[in-house]
Amino acid sequence: MQQKIDEIKNNFFEEIKNIKELASLEEFRIKYLSKNGLVTKLFDEFRELSKEEKPKFGQVINKVKNEVQDAFNELKTILEADNKSFENYIDLTLPGREKVVGTKHILTQTLDEMKSIFIQLGFSVHEGPELESDYNNFEALNFPDDHPARDMQDTFFVNDKFLLRTHTSPVQVRLMNEQKPPIRAIMPGKVYRNEAVSMKSYCLFHQVEGLYVDEGVTFAELKGTIVAFLKQFFGNDIKYRFRPSFFPFTEPSAEVDIWWVPEGKEGRWMEIMGCGMVDPNVLENCGIDSEKYTGYAFGMGVERTAMRKYGIDDIRHFFDNDKRFLTQF
Ligand code: DAH
Repeated sequence: MQQKIDEIKNNFFEEIKNIKELASLEEFRIKYLSKNGLVTKLFDEFRELSKEEKPKFGQVINKVKNEVQDAFNELKTILEADNKSFENYIDLTLPGREKVVGTKHILTQTLDEMKSIFIQLGFSVHEGPELESDYNNFEALNFPDDHPARDMQDTFFVNDKFLLRTHTSPVQVRLMNEQKPPIRAIMPGKVYRNEAVSMKSYCLFHQVEGLYVDEGVTFAELKGTIVAFLKQFFGNDIKYRFRPSFFPFTEPSAEVDIWWVPEGKEGRWMEIMGCGMVDPNVLENCGIDSEKYTGYAFGMGVERTAMRKYGIDDIRHFFDNDKRFLTQF
């Protein structure tokens, strides 16, 4: 009997050393301490002992039982405490899950950059409504009644007095009616044209309008400002040219072209803005004394400028909302 007790006890303490988690502890408990466990069974055998042997082994078995029970309880407490921290356990071997972070649309990024350059040059930023009056969009800007730009083919008319603005120039009119010179502002925003959609044109696009009205503003200042902008936006080696042109609301007028070599194609000039000295009629229409003040204005196409900067070959990409395009920027 003694030998059996020693054997069970020794095995118990041998095996318990290797238990590292609650699941195996439970198996271990069943093996030794459950109703049919090896330690519990010793008591059954004890009952069968002779009267003389009973007192001797009773003590021994009880002592062993208490020792193993204590050791078991101790380990159980330790493993349960460990297991609590297991609940917060992060499995560092799991592959990570990618967090998808959105980015600003490339047009927003372009507009932000344009704004910050003009702000550095001393311009403030103003916005006007996209639903505009025929008066602000055309008449105040010196468009004759029969001007082709008023044609239904270019303009989305809402009724005979209102339309979706075809350019941001009407914001100049609003600003000059609201403020006295000196005025130096840019006016970014969306414009709409009823044109056939193609690689180069879309029914909706963005412009950044610019206006500077004060005493003695000259064409040379206009050129200086535009060139400063182009160099900051595209880099010092940007190739550009000013080309004489015509707009009803500026005199003289010019268009600005930049050199573009589309990938795999021949280089060509690309028009990105119109500009000129504000026509005295326009100043007078807005209540500004054209004898005292002069001004320059410009209007730049944002999509075209972004296309040149980022090598985008189709204006429709900006509006398709294709993630494969958008995530490149
Ligand atoms: N509004 C003209 C357009 O959409 C662009 C333009 C030309 C704006 C000359 C100006 C300007 O301010 O001075 O084509």
